[in-house]
Amino acid sequence: MIPNLSINPQRLWDTLMETAEFGGTAKGGVKRLTLSDEDKQARDWFKRACEALGCSVTVDQVGNIYARRSGKRNDLPPIAMGSHLDTQPTGGKFDGILGVLAGLEALRTLHETGYETNAPIEIINWTNEEGSRFAPGMLGSAVVAGVYKPEFAWSLIDRDGSNFGAELERIGYKGDTQTGGRAFSAMFELHIEQGPILDKEKIEVGVVTGMQGMRWYEVTVTGESAHTGATPMTMRKNALLGSARMVDAIDRMAHEMAPSAVATVGMIENMPNSRNVVPGEVFFTIDMRHPDDEVLQQMEDRMRAELASVLTPLGLSYEERCIWSSPAVKFSPELIECVRIGAKKSGYTTKDLVSGAGHDAAFISRIAPTTMIFAPCLNGISHNEAESSTLEECAAGTQTMLNAVLEFDSRLG
Ligand code: GLV
Ligand code: MN
Ligand code: MN
Repeated sequence: MIPNLSINPQRLWDTLMETAEFGGTAKGGVKRLTLSDEDKQARDWFKRACEALGCSVTVDQVGNIYARRSGKRNDLPPIAMGSHLDTQPTGGKFDGILGVLAGLEALRTLHETGYETNAPIEIINWTNEEGSRFAPGMLGSAVVAGVYKPEFAWSLIDRDGSNFGAELERIGYKGDTQTGGRAFSAMFELHIEQGPILDKEKIEVGVVTGMQGMRWYEVTVTGESAHTGATPMTMRKNALLGSARMVDAIDRMAHEMAPSAVATVGMIENMPNSRNVVPGEVFFTIDMRHPDDEVLQQMEDRMRAELASVLTPLGLSYEERCIWSSPAVKFSPELIECVRIGAKKSGYTTKDLVSGAGHDAAFISRIAPTTMIFAPCLNGISHNEAESSTLEECAAGTQTMLNAVLEFDSRLG
């Protein structure tokens, strides 16, 4: 018999509001960059909260945190629930942390009812999902999935010159548990949708069937710094002008390939960034996504052709590197079925969705049955301090996840 265990919506909400203080901004958002002091505060809080429930908490070589509650059969790999505690520089209160705190709320519910699952339960905080400070993103889960070695993560440098490995040690989260060789019976990740569909259609729970492919690129354009007053227009090699034309070219390409294609230049550094110097060097990033990997490849080919045709006539040279690729993912049919059953059990309305955003579930799906659940967020606004979901929306996703976990666990008995 699968029990009816009800989460405590108010307790979930209170933990969301309490933890939003770690890096809380004046505009009501959160700035909790990976491996910052604020990230450490949230991690310490999460660790304490799990230990208070009697969980054993371990930290692996890249700082992923695992809080484990034993099951009846500890020979089984754990059923995991998790997401991330880090945020964008102007992030909100829900992206990432909702999935971690929903796992904690599920754990608290199991704890207070004394319910024993068959498999152990593990709540996970994956390190550096955002990739905002240290690129690429979804890093901790990628190392666990064997996409990178820990040494790769440790070697990353942020734009201010800080090193990932040193920062991990500084905040006390360079653990000694091996990242490789972990097994999970299943992994469920609850996340806000970060898009407008559920909110617009007033649907309570998103059943996520997969994730679109995404690639990140870094481009350095080199021209020649020169005096703005004394250098004739015909004699300039203006790296910012070339980069601005590329911003437009990339945007036009995505519009032409819409609605499924999206492409964005999100970060630009202009050197020397002085009002009376013709810019001599520019660094910028490109983020391109599409649900079909073949079309994503066509977008890459077109972007490369644009770089040559836009920059070369301006006398500019450039270096372009694809620093990250996450192919399109289809989630586990069995886990998707458990989510549907879980939502139905509590009477929630559902809609199938493919995730436009990247999530740790993408890499974990390579090593274990994995799926995701989406909660609505107001107007689909995310990666923004105004990000907003209600107590009821967060609770519906959390309750669905707990129901789905119990459904899946009952099949392991
Ligand atoms: C992660 O938030 C991403 O989709 O870039
Ligand atoms: Mn996220
Ligand atoms: Mn995010």
